[in-house]
Amino acid sequence: MEIKHLCCEYTENPLGIDIKRPRLSWQLESNAPGAKQTAYQIIAMSNGETICDTGKIASDDSVHVEYGGPVLKSGQRVAWKVRAWDERGQPTGWSDPAWFEMGLLKPSDWKAEWIGSFLVGSARASIPAPYLRKGFELEKPIAAARLYITALGLYEASINGQRVGDAELTPGWTDFSKRVRYQAYDVTGLLRKGGNAIGALLGDGWYCGHVEWRDRQLYGDRPKLLAQLVVSHPDGTQTIIVSDGSWKHAFGPLTEADIIHGEHYDARLESPGWNKPGFDDETWFPVQTFAHPAGLQIVAQNGPVVKVHEELKAISVNEIKEWWGSRYIFDLGQNLTGRVRIRVRGKAGATVRIRYAEVLNPDGSLYLANLRTARATDYYTCKGDGEEIWEPRFTFHGFRYVELYGPIEPPTKKSVTGIVLHSENPVTGSFECSDPLLNQLQHNILWGWKGNTVDVPTDCPQRDERLGWTGDAQVFSRTAAFNTQSARFWAKWLEDLEDSQGPAGNIPPYAPDTNAVRTGNGGPAWADAALIVPWNLYLAYADTRLLSERYGMMKRFVDWITATSPDRVRANPTHTPWGGFGDWLALDGSGRTDGGTPKELIGTAFYAQSARLLSQVADILGKHADAKKYAKLSDDVRKVFQKRFVTPEGFITGRTQTSYVLALAFDLLPEAAIPAAMDWLARDIQERKDHLSTGFVGASYLPFVLSRYGRLDLAYTLLFQKTWPSWLYAVTQGATTIWERWDGWTHDKGFQDPGMNSFNHYAYGAIGDWLYRVVAGIDTDPARPGYKHILLQPHPGPGLTRAMASLDSMYGHIVSDWRIEDGKFEWDVVIPPNTSATVTLPGEATGKEFDAGAYHFSVPITLSDGPEGYQIHALTETFNKPEVKI
Ligand code: BGC
Repeated sequence: MEIKHLCCEYTENPLGIDIKRPRLSWQLESNAPGAKQTAYQIIAMSNGETICDTGKIASDDSVHVEYGGPVLKSGQRVAWKVRAWDERGQPTGWSDPAWFEMGLLKPSDWKAEWIGSFLVGSARASIPAPYLRKGFELEKPIAAARLYITALGLYEASINGQRVGDAELTPGWTDFSKRVRYQAYDVTGLLRKGGNAIGALLGDGWYCGHVEWRDRQLYGDRPKLLAQLVVSHPDGTQTIIVSDGSWKHAFGPLTEADIIHGEHYDARLESPGWNKPGFDDETWFPVQTFAHPAGLQIVAQNGPVVKVHEELKAISVNEIKEWWGSRYIFDLGQNLTGRVRIRVRGKAGATVRIRYAEVLNPDGSLYLANLRTARATDYYTCKGDGEEIWEPRFTFHGFRYVELYGPIEPPTKKSVTGIVLHSENPVTGSFECSDPLLNQLQHNILWGWKGNTVDVPTDCPQRDERLGWTGDAQVFSRTAAFNTQSARFWAKWLEDLEDSQGPAGNIPPYAPDTNAVRTGNGGPAWADAALIVPWNLYLAYADTRLLSERYGMMKRFVDWITATSPDRVRANPTHTPWGGFGDWLALDGSGRTDGGTPKELIGTAFYAQSARLLSQVADILGKHADAKKYAKLSDDVRKVFQKRFVTPEGFITGRTQTSYVLALAFDLLPEAAIPAAMDWLARDIQERKDHLSTGFVGASYLPFVLSRYGRLDLAYTLLFQKTWPSWLYAVTQGATTIWERWDGWTHDKGFQDPGMNSFNHYAYGAIGDWLYRVVAGIDTDPARPGYKHILLQPHPGPGLTRAMASLDSMYGHIVSDWRIEDGKFEWDVVIPPNTSATVTLPGEATGKEFDAGAYHFSVPITLSDGPEGYQIHALTETFNKPEVKI
């Protein structure tokens, strides 16, 4: 057995964290069946000395083991290694060492001042991006150097002309009235003894640029920088260079930079060498310094930054000739979030306009109407220097098509590439099957998620919105945790959510909040993200600390529901003027975007569910009195739900698919009413010629309800439905991401209302969860979460002869790979070391326990799709004797 993949707080060797007791995780690699850890030992060292030796600890914990050494100090680097004892009591060798390094832990560690320009702009008028610089001497050689840096706005830093790090759009988006994150970089290699220079470029970002459809200056009037360069010398001394009044600034080529609207870069205004030592900054202005804003916490990044992940080539370029000139439309073949890199030739002063669109109009021009007020346009003015290469830096767009227009030499296919930006959430899951359309759906789900993870889980990346919508986050969070390692990304957002929580406990519709609309009430199924997202993360990553950190928020929220729901009916129209977004974009609401499901039904269902989740969380955290209290509350609300919305015959008011789905998914019905409710749900689907009618709220639960209550056949029918509304309809229309609406574009009606018609909205991609958990059959066990104990139970259905899912869990690689061949169900399974699984074959009622290992099951199978639906008969052999394949 070997020890691999050492991580601290989900990250390999994190630099500049401020988590007081970081958690360490490792994976065991072994081919031995039943491989597990029976004990471990961790040694941590700092400055060449052992600061912590746990000795041999009898435990099978290999995930989230708290660092147990002395209190950590600012800037302290800790190296650690681990060894384990296997199932036979044999010790492994020591792992390769890993490390973590602390950032600046106390406010008083910051010696830097906030600096910026005197230019302010206004609610509508932007300012050019300030270029800030300082030259300085280092008299001694350099042993190590760290740059701790952040901005209210965005920054891009350089030292001696070289860019610092590769993080983009830093420091991202938090509620800047409460919190801003700093990043830490190892800049040892960029400095030298003698003359040095540090430079920083500031963008408006979310702090003072346009956010959603609002004016500028939401949080502050102009961008500001805070930077602290700590240089350690071999003799143990330090030189600290900080942002302060000694820096200078000027304006340069970046004459405008706005996230929503785009950039203008005038290359004629470049000042080569501005960020190098020896540059003559005589004519530059002094910077202004600013007091630290009251109430603003500066915290470490502690999680993924946005980076460039891919550069996509154009697959075609199309010239559209007009009498006034030509426009060139590039197709990147993929709807993405990011920016372009252009290569153009033009005379000095020639300005090229770059526009972006997700889809084309029937005449081949860009479909821009769905961008609403987002200008989403960049301009580049040539300096007349042969081929000029440029990409914007302080904006991002959602697009597949790019249009170049301007007095430049005719471009070629190589003139534009697509630069894909998103938070660094490594891909951990894969789903592949025998149906190409479903494989494309999986691709679209993943790309929809990538494109909406520019620091915040956004609804969409293209129009004047791009907000961390709670409802969307809630429905998709579990799918996200399959496709990517996104624990820390979500943890950050949940902190944003708590920052946005109202004093009464109310949770707003999105976080970071941009000035609570509707008194900050996200409404049913949206605000409940406060419970559902942490719970989903707990299942996927066993992160109990996250639960305890957010417990206050969860509890205040459920208490707020109670306080605002007389008679335990939430969103009761007689008390609550605004009942939430309903079953958003459902197709059963006679044209209304909030669908036909009564809001108080959705509200009361989610009230019961949130109270139940809170009670479960309380139990996990050992708060048993709370657990009891909220379990009772959930039961009470369930009774109210039954009394108010369910007839004894199992008929549910509202009569929409979502009404039935929520009642069934959240266990709100009396046992006796379930068959009738299922019948009604199935009948409604069939009456719609095998179509769903659910919106954001019902769609993700619908297939789970069908497969759970014996209608797997119908779930498969809906999955394979190709006419709208369905998951595959957009795929058949060439979609490369998930659409906001089932009918974003249809043959008979063309484009939907451009006021809300995004082609990159991850919410309906939540079907991914069902593909992993039910079709391929990899599921969590709430009693032993984080895949410590795995539930493996695939559900083959008509239309598929093979499905394979894999997941890089915290413990290692899990696989469930089945195919139907020659009347046999052939199934390969991998259960990683230090975990176990309950393995249930299709058609079997109960599963069997397996330890780590690779297994192959082969059982005869007969498929029938008789009137009662698809079934698997005659499992003559069970899996008592799996072929163990190592
Ligand atoms: C957003 C959604 C969001 C919804 C709430 C829309 O504008 O794009 O994704 O959940 O509003 O109604």
